[in-house]
Amino acid sequence: MPVRVNLELRAGDAPKTVHRRDVIIVIDVLRCTSTIITALTNGAQAVIPAETLKEAREIRKMNPTYLLAGERRGLKPRGFDLGNSPLEFTREKVEGRHIILTTTSGTRALKRSEGARWVLVGALLNARSAAHEALRLAKDERLNITLLTSGRKGEFSLEDFICAGAIAEELKRMNGTKFSDAATAANLTYLTAKDELLNTVQGGEHAQYLTAIGLKGDVEFCCQLNQYEAVPICRNGIIELHEP
Ligand code: MLT
Repeated sequence: MPVRVNLELRAGDAPKTVHRRDVIIVIDVLRCTSTIITALTNGAQAVIPAETLKEAREIRKMNPTYLLAGERRGLKPRGFDLGNSPLEFTREKVEGRHIILTTTSGTRALKRSEGARWVLVGALLNARSAAHEALRLAKDERLNITLLTSGRKGEFSLEDFICAGAIAEELKRMNGTKFSDAATAANLTYLTAKDELLNTVQGGEHAQYLTAIGLKGDVEFCCQLNQYEAVPICRNGIIELHEP
């Protein structure tokens, strides 16, 4: 039986993918999942996603050595150690540390995926490795795959859709998958955009917003394809590195 590759477009769609028992790849290119992958690649011990500022601050109160990171409207909340820019998560700052992370959509998608058997963290930065790992798990355990794009404030997100298409392209190159129409559409969009990835993403609403608040460098960084091999896995509310 081929592995079916589904696509869901918003954080709020997570519960139905959990219900289907799919291997989920949560995607938030700008910037949550790109930041998580970067932090763990640079030696962070774990990332703990929190849905609200209150929840994040409470976890910190109980764990004073943990770093508190995240954004609202793209900016670092008051009293936080780090924002949500992957460029801030250098080895010097994060090596060996636990990081509590709360973002507008990405950590919401991760939290709402809790209960799934496998929740992988994907972005353009690790598209190839995420595809390989998801397919390996799906085949081993006879499960299907859902590419879950976090979206932007509950709406469709161009860069996440393109990233889902990039991961789909890697899946297509391996044997044994069949795509939903939504996954096929994402793949076709990626194939159209792939030679102009940065330009295409820069045309999206969130990239334009980040650029307007001085974070163009983040958009450029997050548009690098297959820079990292790390495939973080979220289990029991904690995200840790999983080297394929
Ligand atoms: C989110 O989770 O909504 C994003 O990561 C927002 C951002 O760019 O910081």
